[in-house]
Amino acid sequence: MVCGIFAPMKTPKRYLITSALPYANGPKHIGHLAGAYLPADIYVRYLRAQKRDVAFVCGSDEHGAAITIQAIKEKTTPKAIVDKYHALLESNMKDLGISFDIYHRTSSPLHHETAQEFFTLLYNQGALDLKESEQYFDEAANTFLADRYITGTCPICSSDKAYGDQCEKCGTSLSPEQLINPKSTLSGNPPSKKKTTHWYLPLDKHEDFLRQWILEEHQNDWKTNVLGQCKSWIDAGLQPRAVTRDLEWGVKVPLENAEGKVLYVWFDAPIGYISATKQWAADNQKDWKPYWYDNDTKLVHFIGKDNIVFHCIIFPAMLKLHGNILPDNVPSNEFMNLEGDKMSTSRGWSIEMDEYINDFVKKDNGGDMMVDALRYYLTAIAPETKDSEFTWKGFQDALNSELVAIFGNFINRSFVLMHKLCNGKVPPIHSELLDEKDKKLIIDIQTSKETIQSLIENYKYRDALFEVIDLARKGNKYMQEKEPWIAAKQTDENGVPTKEAQQKIDATMHCCLQLSANLAILINPFLPFTAKKMCHMMKVVDKMLEWENAGKMNLLSVGYSLRAPELLFRKIEDAEVQEQIEKLKIKSKKMTEAMPQNENQQKTEKDVVVKPEIQFDDFAKIDLKTGTIVAAQKVEKADKLLQLQVDLGTEQRTIVSGIALHHQPENIIGQKVVVVTNLAPRKMRGIESNGMILMAEDENGKLVFVNSEVSNGSNVS
Ligand code: MF3
Ligand code: ZN
Repeated sequence: MVCGIFAPMKTPKRYLITSALPYANGPKHIGHLAGAYLPADIYVRYLRAQKRDVAFVCGSDEHGAAITIQAIKEKTTPKAIVDKYHALLESNMKDLGISFDIYHRTSSPLHHETAQEFFTLLYNQGALDLKESEQYFDEAANTFLADRYITGTCPICSSDKAYGDQCEKCGTSLSPEQLINPKSTLSGNPPSKKKTTHWYLPLDKHEDFLRQWILEEHQNDWKTNVLGQCKSWIDAGLQPRAVTRDLEWGVKVPLENAEGKVLYVWFDAPIGYISATKQWAADNQKDWKPYWYDNDTKLVHFIGKDNIVFHCIIFPAMLKLHGNILPDNVPSNEFMNLEGDKMSTSRGWSIEMDEYINDFVKKDNGGDMMVDALRYYLTAIAPETKDSEFTWKGFQDALNSELVAIFGNFINRSFVLMHKLCNGKVPPIHSELLDEKDKKLIIDIQTSKETIQSLIENYKYRDALFEVIDLARKGNKYMQEKEPWIAAKQTDENGVPTKEAQQKIDATMHCCLQLSANLAILINPFLPFTAKKMCHMMKVVDKMLEWENAGKMNLLSVGYSLRAPELLFRKIEDAEVQEQIEKLKIKSKKMTEAMPQNENQQKTEKDVVVKPEIQFDDFAKIDLKTGTIVAAQKVEKADKLLQLQVDLGTEQRTIVSGIALHHQPENIIGQKVVVVTNLAPRKMRGIESNGMILMAEDENGKLVFVNSEVSNGSNVS
């Protein structure tokens, strides 16, 4: 009987692995790399080593407001923008060892045809509804406004920099109608409303299927962060989504009388996975169809958490209507912060892939080792289950005390000692002479292989990598305990080790070398450049890296002469850490200063926000009660948030409030507050907030308490 997590998974006939198509609107940072590209690459390299049939596809997402806004910023055309950044992204990914089988682009004619064919098939089935609505329009620019082209005040946190689709300050998804005082970013004017017609995907009709497929069929194999987001979307009730837009730049809607309309970028972009597969197949004399139609294909989408709803809800609904297979899994990562703050290219608080390549890979001699160094640290701190943080100090520590001191050290010592004590050749071993330590090492190698394999198959790259390092650690311990250098001192009258001593040395060094070969196979998916270098040192071809070879103790033949050890990794010096931190500070200062006023953090004049009039009924829906703050603490990695416990007389509530810049937690215990008690719960930094406290803003912009001396739980009216 097999059961539980050890049940062998049935091997599918083929794999199609995708990484989210990055917008070709600028360079991408290492947070993107850690989220959607590196984990996919590790998985694919492992699958290839298992000799599975796999296609790894990606490409640039070249439509949507992300592109046209960048074109306006750079005073050029959208075409020039995508050409420039597509080339940059393609070359960055290659330099960092991301081994796509194809890196395609959505501006290609093949993609346009594919997306149009997809739309037409759905349209012909009657799966799309035509609806008339009023949309924001900029009279001066004579154009409808995409959500991103509208800014205004966030109805939730009152930030005046919210976009029509999202408030970046508090993270709420918005629709343009929710913005207070909306403005067009094109003319700066308040937009008018104008009637238009669009095609909608009625997601509400697919709700039952999605609920069943995601929340039941995949409840045990999808990650909890993914399931959680899907559940809250489905529970909130799925709404029809417009899949077309009134824009110039994009894939034209393939219907009569649809001039000036294009497919919504989130409709066409994921179809980019299909067009990329087609192009790859055409380039390699393959048939693309089974990859998208045969049920024995395992489709896996690697993404960041901001892409979950599109890949788990909208695209699957489209795929099902279109008759394609559905993803088997959508491993999504959380975000990676940088030195205590959110990573952001526009604010300059980021390490762009391109920057890292220039500073460490191209500058350094043998820079490939610095690619693997980055791959190592990003995997070791991968935000697999929660947000994580990149620090230069952490990078230095991981590199110096793990990669160099454990892995690099073991390989280096094995090779140095083999040259010193065994004539530079793989020494013989006699199985009858194996002692307990040798036997244990052999078993450890076997067990590690199985553990690593199962972790990789289950998308746990961080733990899988630790297991590889742990095996190297065991190698160091083994060598330390066996002390072949001591045996080497048992010499005869000519100063040569005795036969018995040499046999001991040989057995130990034989095991160390076989372990080195095994480590090359096991580290290969994570650090491919290192594995390659190790093959060179061992004078073996890359074929040795095939996964089935892991666990074997005869990878290197007895008597075979090996090369001298090569430097696998180098240490990072304190000065380099300092230099990078300084550079980050200067860059972010420069970029924030250069930002247009409304995107900049500092407010110059106090804005008076007058909200639109509401009816008494709207007000009556709000339940206001008085309470006392009984506990308060800072929320980790969120400068603005405090987690409060508020006593409401009959109950205590956890409320997360954005007042940390104005009040110290210890000073507000005992403070009376007015609480909105029937606000839907909202998660902030992983903490569920059950209500909101009301504050007033004084003339200096400081948030102060509205004082009241009544007993807790009193109604406020
Ligand atoms: N360009 C999108 C982003 O960067 C991701 C698109 S993924 C795809 O968030 F599936 F639509 F291609
Ligand atoms: Zn907000």
